[in-house]
Amino acid sequence: MRTAVYPGSFDPVTFGHLDIIERSSKMVDRLIVGVLDNGLKNPLFSVEERVTMLEEVTSHLPNVTVTSFHGLLVDFARQCGAGLVVRGLRAITDFEYELQMSQTNRIMCPQLDTIFLTTDLRYAYLSSHTVREVGRFGGDLSAFVPPVIVEQVLKKFGHTDLIEGKQELEDKDEQD
Ligand code: PNS
Repeated sequence: MRTAVYPGSFDPVTFGHLDIIERSSKMVDRLIVGVLDNGLKNPLFSVEERVTMLEEVTSHLPNVTVTSFHGLLVDFARQCGAGLVVRGLRAITDFEYELQMSQTNRIMCPQLDTIFLTTDLRYAYLSSHTVREVGRFGGDLSAFVPPVIVEQVLKKFGHTDLIEGKQELEDKDEQD
């Protein structure tokens, strides 16, 4: 059985991540999305929240599971029985860091290979940082993340008035 891990911070998951998950899950028998929980100093979402959100948006993919991990990626991959790491490449600016990381991982664990998928052009500009920045100021997130994530980001920043469907619900309550 071919198992791969797709590690990241996913704070929060974006359409770009989802595209990589959908495409890479077709290439392997099992894809384990690993949410690093010692990576970010001040994450917007707790690791549990990030795992839950990823589970929701990948629920249509039967061979994808989501879990968190501590410490080194090579140890996580070993525990999962994975021989492959999947990473997305958006632009040449990602390349240096990704190359360094994959080479370091291969030195520590020569059996572990990293495969890179080029991000769909529609999402080449997109990052979780962008989503947090736009969400902070109540901007429209619908092009960047699935609706359930839009709601979670807006809630985090206290923009509950902007959550779609909320106004209709309130109007209905008043009429009843
Ligand atoms: O989404 P990100 O933040 O770009 O993901 C980075 C991640 C989680 C893949 C990377 O930071 C990672 O693997 N961290 C675990 C520690 C580790 O094994 N580092 C690799 C040696 S350089």
